[in-house]
Amino acid sequence: MVAGIGHSDYLHFFRSWISNPLRVAAIAPSGTSLAKLMTQEIAALDGPIIELGPGTGVFTRALLERGIREEDLTLIEYGPEFISSLASRFPHARVLQMDAAHLGQAGIFEGEPVRAVISGLPLLSMSPRKTTAILVSAFAYMRPGGALYQFTYGPRCPVPRPILDRLGLKATHLGGTVRNLPPAAVYKISRRKPLELSRDRFKYRTREAETGTAAVPGETRG
Ligand SMILES: C[S@@+](CC[C@H](N)C(=O)[O-])C[C@H]1O[C@@H](n2cnc3c(N)ncnc32)[C@H](O)[C@@H]1O
Repeated sequence: MVAGIGHSDYLHFFRSWISNPLRVAAIAPSGTSLAKLMTQEIAALDGPIIELGPGTGVFTRALLERGIREEDLTLIEYGPEFISSLASRFPHARVLQMDAAHLGQAGIFEGEPVRAVISGLPLLSMSPRKTTAILVSAFAYMRPGGALYQFTYGPRCPVPRPILDRLGLKATHLGGTVRNLPPAAVYKISRRKPLELSRDRFKYRTREAETGTAAVPGETRG
């Protein structure tokens, strides 16, 4: 048994796993140590946060403990067996029963951009196509500088490198914990910085275009 989880949550989760092992993908809810790792960079500022695959709400509770307002949380859970307990535990959060892969078409964040996405989704058991759809939707809603936090039981980031490259994203390993069943690691997935032309180089190009003259490479004119 993992510290911080009640017996009834443990049973609830285990039964869900028995009935749908691929979707639930874990025999027990995450422990408090993993919840702390997953939420370590989330500061208590205003703004929407999405949680994907909250299950019994271990990460949701950790977000509230970090000072996040319940009203700022949108919980996207596919499993119908988790919905009523999420709604009664977090009555001020928005709880939506849907496939996270359909988030993009749902149009649920037309206003303020999202600060962060916390994902407990079993990406390792999803197809590359589904993983791509989830990331595209999440980053379409995300404000500049926002990130998606994902845990995995595997030895590397659960989003394959070609998908990250295609979407202009990068993954950073934030840490791991053995105080979880099974041990897990956390990755931060964020946008790569766009290539920037330096101002000097820009001047050089502009002048060259204006005068039609060749400039000495490295020389700044203007
Ligand atoms: C490994 S469990 C993690 C649960 C919880 N976050 C935790 O750490 O204890 C995966 C969760 O993702 C949910 N899930 C799986 N596929 C999903 C999908 N396509 N969209 C939304 N939720 C999904 C499952 O129902 C389950 O609650």
